[in-house]
Amino acid sequence: MPDQATPNRLYFGDCLEVMAEYLADESVDLIYLDPPFNSKRIYNAFIGGAQWVAFDDTWRWYEAIDDFHAVASEVSLAPTMEGLRRILGEGGELAYLSYMANRLRECHRVLKRTGSIYLHCDPTMSHYLKVIMDGIFGKQNFRNEVIWHYRKWSTGKYAFQRNHDVLLFYSRTKVRERAFNQLFMPRTASTIKRFGSKRIVSGYDERGERLPSQVADEDSEGVRLDDVWDISRVPPIKQLYPTEKPLPLLERIIKASSNPGDVVFDPFCGCGTTIHAAQNLGRRWIGIDVCVQACKVIQKRIEGHFDSLWDDIEFVGMPKTLEDARALAALDPFKFERWAASLVPGMEANKKQRGDKGIDGRGRLPIRKGEFVDVVAQVKAGNTNPSQVQAFNEARRQAGAELGVFTCFEDKVTSGMRNAAVNSGQFKDNWPVIQIYTIEDYFLGRLPDLPLANFRRP
Ligand SMILES: C[S@@+](CC[C@H](N)C(=O)[O-])C[C@H]1O[C@@H](n2cnc3c(N)ncnc32)[C@H](O)[C@@H]1O
Repeated sequence: MPDQATPNRLYFGDCLEVMAEYLADESVDLIYLDPPFNSKRIYNAFIGGAQWVAFDDTWRWYEAIDDFHAVASEVSLAPTMEGLRRILGEGGELAYLSYMANRLRECHRVLKRTGSIYLHCDPTMSHYLKVIMDGIFGKQNFRNEVIWHYRKWSTGKYAFQRNHDVLLFYSRTKVRERAFNQLFMPRTASTIKRFGSKRIVSGYDERGERLPSQVADEDSEGVRLDDVWDISRVPPIKQLYPTEKPLPLLERIIKASSNPGDVVFDPFCGCGTTIHAAQNLGRRWIGIDVCVQACKVIQKRIEGHFDSLWDDIEFVGMPKTLEDARALAALDPFKFERWAASLVPGMEANKKQRGDKGIDGRGRLPIRKGEFVDVVAQVKAGNTNPSQVQAFNEARRQAGAELGVFTCFEDKVTSGMRNAAVNSGQFKDNWPVIQIYTIEDYFLGRLPDLPLANFRRP
């Protein structure tokens, strides 16, 4: 376990496992989490002019059965999870909620008694998530439902435009020492007309009657900030990452619910907006993301904004050199597989611990505007042979994917394996159906021959 006093840590991995392995009980002051929303969407990103898919926000029940049983066996959550199973049945929604409940439980463990948590979600799931948050953090610790309102071009003519997200704000306990720094918003025109910019003093007499408001000598800071926040989204053209949240949103949360020097933690940190805001405001931070590409974007973002900071960051879980990758493969083949299955932009490792039917990762890559191909990955940490390549091609076919990437170390690749890959044929006369991608390729900055390299921003 790293020194708990170490500031500024970035982890690659599933936040459930990373929290369990590396984060001590009651060790962080503020948690902001912006997990996938169960939007049933595939998020695209443009990096270096090419499009790739950052993550697939769709959920399958079989991927989260372990999560369901982990939370449903806990006394405080059993009735909630059982109730949700009755309402929703065993499908994608319950899978998503079980996955979230299991990770929120860990968030509760690592949050200090004086800490706060903001769960960012949207109206498709916020009502179910609130029931789960009540179960984990306690109804009495619910502080606010903050509505983040923005403008965007929405579609659909038969309902109101969907232009807000929801932030569920809870404290860990009701202790008074919790950080809460009052923020202010400007006065309305009518208040300014009546009172000007001076502070207004009001109160009650001993019989509880309201006294007339009076104007004090000093200037007012404004009106106490309410729970509806108007903040512009990051325009898609400027996004570093799909689903990137605006820096001012994170700065507001961090200013309100932490103090300089506190530890701010984001278990689903994407392109690192929370990290950027925390660093701007003199807080220490911890971030986790399960996507290799997200961690790379964070590195670039930190290097671009904060001189030499990257050198002082403890970056855990993602091999930085070929030797690191070999060491990880020997030490923890599952972690190695998870990392190697998501090396290619757009590919994501399985959510489930065990590979399913020979598939360790998958992705959907755009072939042209509006048309996608399904790609699967298999990773081998140890010895390999041609029949494994053939078996992977069969697994790919059964998974309904058009393309497959077989990943291993260069010295394990034989000419028989290369032949087996070539014999698997071509997709659309353009891309090899199965290709062998090596860890050495990755460190040399080479990509497999997939549609992503060919698709340019329109
Ligand atoms: C909605 S995005 C976060 C965006 C972020 N707030 C920002 O401003 O960039 C969700 C992120 O969670 C990551 N993710 C999904 N499941 C995860 C898990 N189990 N552990 C850690 N990260 C995960 C995805 O890779 C994605 O980057």
